[in-house]
Amino acid sequence: MPGIFNIVAYLRYLNKSGTRHSVHSPFVYTLVDEVLKNNSPNEAFQKISHLRRTMLKKTQVIEITDFGAGAKEKKYSFRYESVAGIVKKASVTEKYGKVLFHLVQHFKPQSIVELGSSVGISTLYMALAKPDAKVYTIEGCTTKSEQATSNFRKMEAKNIVQNIGRFDVVLPDLMQQVGKLDFAFVDGNHIYKATVSYFDTLLKNAHNDTVFVFDDIHWSQGMERAWNEICDNEQVTVSIDLYRMGIVFLNKQLSKQKFVIRF
Ligand SMILES: C[S@@+](CC[C@H](N)C(=O)[O-])C[C@H]1O[C@@H](n2cnc3c(N)ncnc32)[C@H](O)[C@@H]1O
Repeated sequence: MPGIFNIVAYLRYLNKSGTRHSVHSPFVYTLVDEVLKNNSPNEAFQKISHLRRTMLKKTQVIEITDFGAGAKEKKYSFRYESVAGIVKKASVTEKYGKVLFHLVQHFKPQSIVELGSSVGISTLYMALAKPDAKVYTIEGCTTKSEQATSNFRKMEAKNIVQNIGRFDVVLPDLMQQVGKLDFAFVDGNHIYKATVSYFDTLLKNAHNDTVFVFDDIHWSQGMERAWNEICDNEQVTVSIDLYRMGIVFLNKQLSKQKFVIRF
């Protein structure tokens, strides 16, 4: 259930957002056309939808460890949730999964880093979009990671490298292994300080064409603050706010501009 904060944030977004026709940047115009408005069917979408439907029927309850915002002031907390409940609550929706898929097909990254695999739905959208890319995904909760492993096997996705552990512990070492970072999807631990710090760590391996995607940028005041700070970072040129997700580019050939696009 959205709270009053989310309702106000959404109204603010609606008020600020424009359509493709209000975009005067050829780079962003093409992106809207080829990524956001891309309705072409793909076998991968059917496969992932089928997997999602199967998972939504799984009443099996698993013990989960929460290292994110849900742990509040503690470092982590435990609770029990059904697999169906996890997918319903936390997995990327089909609409935004397709955005990830088309972004990967459009920008053709070789190395993709994901923070927050959960049971692997978003990971699969990115991995199936470009089977010759490598998708490094991190998840703190072992039981969710096990569900993801089984999903990756079922979908025969062989380009995914799973890492289990807390983001702040795993990420620095992982980035040494990744080297040059082409694409990052940050979808976990939705708190201000953590989000900005993951961005700073990822930036060290970024280059002119790296694409960053952040989920839940209007989820809380803290996430809005993190998003605004990321957009204002001196290395960032173009940022695109789609309400649920935010996309950031470092491309120096583009002039600094913040877009809010009705999606
Ligand atoms: C919103 S879910 C990810 C959903 C997934 N990207 C998808 O769309 O299918 C966020 C995940 O991040 C994990 N997570 C949150 N904070 C973390 C942290 N500090 N370290 C490791 N994992 C964390 C949670 O366990 C959770 O599974």
